Amino acid sequence: MENNKKSVGILGTGSYIPPKIMTNEDIEKIVDTTNEWIITRTGIKTRYIADFEVATSDLATEAALRALKDANIKAEEIDLVIVATITPDMAFPSTACIVQNNINAINASAFDLGAGCSGFVYALTVGKQFILSGMYKRVLIIGADELSKVVDWSDRNTCILFGDGAGAVVIGITEEGKGILSESLGSDGEGGKFLNIPAGGSRMPTTLETVQGKYHYIKMDGSEVFKFAVRIMSKSCLESIEKSGYSIDQIDYLVPHQANIRIIESAAKKLKLTMDKVHVNLEKYGNMSAASIPVSLDEAVKQGKIKKDDIIVMVGFGAGLTWGSCVMKWNK
Ligand code: ACO
Repeated sequence: MENNKKSVGILGTGSYIPPKIMTNEDIEKIVDTTNEWIITRTGIKTRYIADFEVATSDLATEAALRALKDANIKAEEIDLVIVATITPDMAFPSTACIVQNNINAINASAFDLGAGCSGFVYALTVGKQFILSGMYKRVLIIGADELSKVVDWSDRNTCILFGDGAGAVVIGITEEGKGILSESLGSDGEGGKFLNIPAGGSRMPTTLETVQGKYHYIKMDGSEVFKFAVRIMSKSCLESIEKSGYSIDQIDYLVPHQANIRIIESAAKKLKLTMDKVHVNLEKYGNMSAASIPVSLDEAVKQGKIKKDDIIVMVGFGAGLTWGSCVMKWNK
């Protein structure tokens, strides 16, 4: 019963985008596509790509340091680091352990969480439970991905969509009735076939043939993922809004996963939200997978679009298939 009275909220946010920009015109030179097609079908104009030798943990570390600074919390005060990613530096150690070492979070345990583009909302929900249970006081949650490293740059169906980046938040106890109010997570493993990287794991270990066959790259059935996303975004939001005790007309701002402007507009329409209440940055960054939502959140807060006591919904969908949303009363 005691636990129910505690509220967990975001104490600080941070993000990091690598400096190298790639425009649609740059992609026109690589595959058979046009700037106009990409803008009309996705809304994306540019994305940022990490250098070959820069790993996901490098982006995650920078975002984490910025979130710690924003929260005014020292790395040694962090009890747990969770990195949501589908592009870890390597199979093991976890990217979270690498970040933990980079930032010197000497008192923290650390693990990765893989839920595709829904990873950040999943990780936030998991981190919240550790605090509610009383086990930990402060948790660092990072969403970081470099899909540029796993995309087939000769496949126009996928290579136009993604960009690299990282976003982070520090969570801890906040004022009662504020912070993360409710969440809704889901998965449908049946849909795993629509979005995956087939090789490099135990199902299809790396061989010369898997490399030559390009099985280490993202395979995606875009229209199946599109239909799923349009259905699930609003459904998940409505579930978490209902659980929060607030109503749909009390929502001040929506921070959705940034995959495709048509998906976002459709979700906004179903939630009866005008687009000025929806954060959109995919024209700049493309789809940054697990980083999309925390980068958007950080941006929205710093731009003053999210203010104290605003009711915010964050929602994502992705590989798994997975989805997740949460409602927050902004406590900062
Ligand atoms: N340039 C030009 N033409 C293209 C391109 C391109 N880059 N890509 C596809 N086309 C062509 C297709 O070949 C097809 O041609 P055809 O009719 O001659 O066969 C035509 O355009 C239409 O293709 P569709 O796939 O129907 O195009 P659609 O409007 O559905 O847009 C898109 C494709 C943008 C991929 C869309 O389906 C989408 O956004 N899907 C969701 C993707 C997504 O959100 N993925 C999430 C990943 S999350 C994670 O966890 C990693």
